Amino acid sequence: MTDIPRLEDLAAHLGDLSGQRIFVRTDFNVPLDESGAITDDFRIRAALPTIKWLTERGAFVVCGSHLGRPKGAPDPRYAMDAVRARLAELAPGVELIENLRFDPGETGNSSDFVAQLTDGIDGYVNDAFGASHRAHASIVGPPQHVPSAMGRLLEKEVDVLLGLRNRPKHPFVAVLGGAKVSDKLGVIEALLEIVDEIVIGGAMCFTFFLAQGKQVGASLHEPDQVDVCAGLLAKAAELGKTIHLPDDINGTDAGGNFAQFGSRLGEGSIGYDIGPGSAAAFTDVIMDARMVFWNGPMGMFEDERFASGTRTVAQAMADTKAFTVVGGGDSAAALAQFKLDDEVDHVSTGGGASLELLENGDLPGLEALRTGMTT
Ligand code: 3PG
Repeated sequence: MTDIPRLEDLAAHLGDLSGQRIFVRTDFNVPLDESGAITDDFRIRAALPTIKWLTERGAFVVCGSHLGRPKGAPDPRYAMDAVRARLAELAPGVELIENLRFDPGETGNSSDFVAQLTDGIDGYVNDAFGASHRAHASIVGPPQHVPSAMGRLLEKEVDVLLGLRNRPKHPFVAVLGGAKVSDKLGVIEALLEIVDEIVIGGAMCFTFFLAQGKQVGASLHEPDQVDVCAGLLAKAAELGKTIHLPDDINGTDAGGNFAQFGSRLGEGSIGYDIGPGSAAAFTDVIMDARMVFWNGPMGMFEDERFASGTRTVAQAMADTKAFTVVGGGDSAAALAQFKLDDEVDHVSTGGGASLELLENGDLPGLEALRTGMTT
């Protein structure tokens, strides 16, 4: 990423950082419980190296982030109070403005909102990797108006994820899960070109089952994506790549009781997790790999009855000698729940962003910094 200005370039461009007001776009979109308390502050801690680098040089840091998906107007459920309090504990004296998405200009990328954000600002730093796939005002606007750079977190994320794409070590395995196959189609297609094997779990496997002519009972599936899944299976075969699907499933029967199935689910049955045989087979694939990227849980791990598939895959990620990267969101939460987050090489702060970077090799937020004022 030598084409994107770093913090050192920003400091050189501005001369002395002391007393300069630097706006740092962070991704403090942290999970909150029902009382509004933060349940995982990973994304706040991940921004500290950048914030400290700036404050140690005398800069006055103003952070801005979105939280949740408010609809362009203030919504008390998504106010930044809890995040601000945690940030004050971790980085005293650093300011955090209100949820950027309380203004419709953020998602609408309005020039008025960009002007408001950059008013009185001497420099801009993007450290919000998890939001850099969004062409929103605070991500793509400031670099056109003030000297700008990427923060340490953004730099690390891009280095690791582009490293998977550009410098793969074989066998390279992608493990994909989660509920919606439609969210992952683009990345599966792109990954087929760079990985050797793709392991698919989570509810998205049921749309692939349908493409193979299997029965899925009442399990979650996307009927309009069946043909696309069939196309991906055909493309994998053409390229000589393997797509591994589960051949046993844990779920509930028509009476709602816990049940284990083969890969055919009868009427009224619902699959919620991969079964033990599939978890063991997926473990073997991960253990034999030299590089593994994992995004999306294997099942509904929040429910202990359906956590074993995700737990087994998480344990394999911890045990394998391969270089392991976990892409954000639910899979990172699963790793944390199983206390294995220190056992993998890199846990990304971005879910959608990590998938999009793997798929396209670039993100709107990176492009904005590359063409911004500091370059
Ligand atoms: C995330 O949680 O993946 C990022 O904060 C982006 O959030 P968004 O999907 O609401 O844009």
